[in-house]
Amino acid sequence: MKKISPSLLSANFSNLEKDIKMLEEGGAHLLHIDVMDGHFVPNITMGPVIVEAINKVAKIPLDVHLMIENPGNYVDAFIDAGADYLTVHAEAAPHLHRVIQKIKARGVKAGVSLNPHTPISVLENVLNDIDLVLIMSVNPGFGGQSFIPNTIEKLRGLQIMLKKHNAGHVEVEVDGGIKIDNIKEVSEAGCDIFVSGSGIFKAKNPIQMIKDMTEVLSSYTLNG
Ligand code: DX5
Ligand code: ZN
Repeated sequence: MKKISPSLLSANFSNLEKDIKMLEEGGAHLLHIDVMDGHFVPNITMGPVIVEAINKVAKIPLDVHLMIENPGNYVDAFIDAGADYLTVHAEAAPHLHRVIQKIKARGVKAGVSLNPHTPISVLENVLNDIDLVLIMSVNPGFGGQSFIPNTIEKLRGLQIMLKKHNAGHVEVEVDGGIKIDNIKEVSEAGCDIFVSGSGIFKAKNPIQMIKDMTEVLSSYTLNG
């Protein structure tokens, strides 16, 4: 099933509850939460305390994207805070397999994210241990950037790799520059979960925008 995961990075942080309710009213499937440490990426956002607060008001699952160094040290804290999907960057984890095992042992969906320049081949030996691949379609750190066109080829290559490894259970998520105008092309290239921050929050009517995006995805799926 195709899912929309709005990024809270573009939300109003002085009233997150209101924005979360709005996203749920639009039918968002997941809530994408961007955690940045000022080291792995040149920006700092939120930690487990905020994720815990979000978890208290959100009804839909939390899709937590860690853009931090040493992610293995923080797995337990973010799972305790309520993460349902926990995604770490391959570039930030020299012992990636160990971190994945740590997430899986807690019964949470484990994701691995790749920066735009990182080849999908780094996933080859962990594909059967993970639930999600998050392909960055911008350089991580900030919302509102433009979609990098090479992502489409990367997604097609990933589909081939998933088939080769019988890893059809792995969901593919794309993050950065996703808008109503490119969602169909990204979907056709093999995306299951669509992260959108500015594409939803900067729309005149964010509730309607989520509904429109869902409609584009379902008509594409129905028509094959
Ligand atoms: C960027 C974050 C994204 C960001 C997407 O580092 O991982 O989740 O919020 O924002 P848009 O959709 O505006 O590109
Ligand atoms: Zn993200």
